[in-house]
Amino acid sequence: MSVIATKELSKEYQSRTFSKEKILALNNFTFEVNEGEIFGILGPNGAGKTTLIKILLGITFRTKGNVQIFGKEIDDTSYKFQTGYLPENHRFPSYLTGEQALAFYGKLGGMNSVDVKKKTDEYLRIVDMDSWRKTKIKKYSKGMLQRLGLAQALMNDPKLVFLDEPTDGVDPIGRKQIRDLLTRLRESGKTIFLNSHLLSEVELICDRVAILNKGGLVASGSVEELTSVADSYRFSVSAIADDLMQPLLNTYKAVIKGPNEFTYKAGTAEELNGLIDFLRQKKAMILQIEKEKNTLENMFINLIGSQD
Ligand SMILES: Nc1ncnc2c1ncn2[C@@H]1O[C@H](COP(=O)(O)OP(=O)(O)OP(=O)(O)O)[C@@H](O)[C@H]1O
Ligand SMILES: [Mg+2]
Repeated sequence: MSVIATKELSKEYQSRTFSKEKILALNNFTFEVNEGEIFGILGPNGAGKTTLIKILLGITFRTKGNVQIFGKEIDDTSYKFQTGYLPENHRFPSYLTGEQALAFYGKLGGMNSVDVKKKTDEYLRIVDMDSWRKTKIKKYSKGMLQRLGLAQALMNDPKLVFLDEPTDGVDPIGRKQIRDLLTRLRESGKTIFLNSHLLSEVELICDRVAILNKGGLVASGSVEELTSVADSYRFSVSAIADDLMQPLLNTYKAVIKGPNEFTYKAGTAEELNGLIDFLRQKKAMILQIEKEKNTLENMFINLIGSQD
């Protein structure tokens, strides 16, 4: 079931300058997020990511198109009780302690006092902020603020969570803890919508991603689909002997990557098996064959670079 579905969604801002120039922040953007997945939205600065999140949360309004959340039109705002949100660069009242802030936001979200107490204890422990609960927020570091923000987004046990740069300012151990937490949330059936510039992290946890550029969708799919290099296989062999080198280069047009590694583009399974037969006939010991992979970052840079 899709938890979020947009159809030809557009957003036009009108500049406040004298020229009243129009800015198309989203342009016919159609996509879906499925229940129980971690979905990543990627794109360069100004691509329209925050605009999209704000429309999905009902903070700003679309100019054109349709949005459904939990199968209902977004104009029916009841879905908001089942969502959590960690904004980018959030500001909590600095005179509150961590636990007071969670109680404040929990009550704003309609929670009763018993649940507020229970969830405050539970989430402060999960985000590793228990020992700071009675300290005023003004003394928190950036990473601590982020951890508290994450606890705040989860307080009302939402089915759908929007996280805008959740690991910004968090140290490597904290980032790993947050990734593990997000994976556990997914296992418990929650849907997570994530906006992050840390592509190596997105690659580790997102099931699917959409790439936005200048308000339009440029690619979407599983991380696996987006990072695999079409038809190319990476071979590891015990050694590339002299009698292998020439045929690999000339007949098979392989690309040598190291003393015992090369890549080969096979158009069909027959071609792939042909090379394996050849290697075995030459008594080469095949250690590993895998589909060649790009990093998400490389793929992103190539894609956005080619558009600009
Ligand atoms: N309130 C506004 N009024 C006018 N233009 C706006 C407004 N908010 C955003 N924009 C413009 O809309 C476009 C998309 O902005 P948005 O903030 O959604 O990008 P983003 O993908 O979140 O970027 P970043 O990665 O820098 O956070 C930009 O050109 C921006 O200048
Ligand atoms: Mg943004």
